Amino acid sequence: MRPIHHDLMSTIVPVIVVAGLMGLAFHSFVPAQDYPADITRGKAVYQRHCQACHGVGGWGDGPGAQALKVAPANVHRFASFLTSDEKLLRTIEFGVVFSPMHAWRAS
Ligand code: HEC
Repeated sequence: MRPIHHDLMSTIVPVIVVAGLMGLAFHSFVPAQDYPADITRGKAVYQRHCQACHGVGGWGDGPGAQALKVAPANVHRFASFLTSDEKLLRTIEFGVVFSPMHAWRAS
């Protein structure tokens, strides 16, 4: 007789893999923030406050980037893509300790 956990595993593992892939596929459609999206305003805020470090396209290559000890995040990295919207929002709101990325919550 096969051990029972083998049957369980052969059911559970594919379910988890499929759920994970769906999570990846629909990553950007999951509403993660309480604020409604406002692309026009967001762009203006980005250009005014973020572009100097993060660059026009978010590649982390803004004119201010070279002077920084900690490089501004390139949001096209896979690591950023995998970071949840909640976590990114938290970084923007509260900043990163010992980094030029300060909190923007009160700005
Ligand atoms: C003074 C330069 C500077 C400015 C201005 C700046 N950032 Fe950053 N930002 C950084 C740096 C440096 C990091 C990387 C911090 C680390 O990894 O320690 C970062 C990280 C981030 C991250 C995390 C990305 C990730 O993959 O985890 C987000 C999101 C972000 N910034 C958004 C913004 C937004 C939105 C603004 C404008 C409101 C902004 N930043 C303005 C320097 C800046």
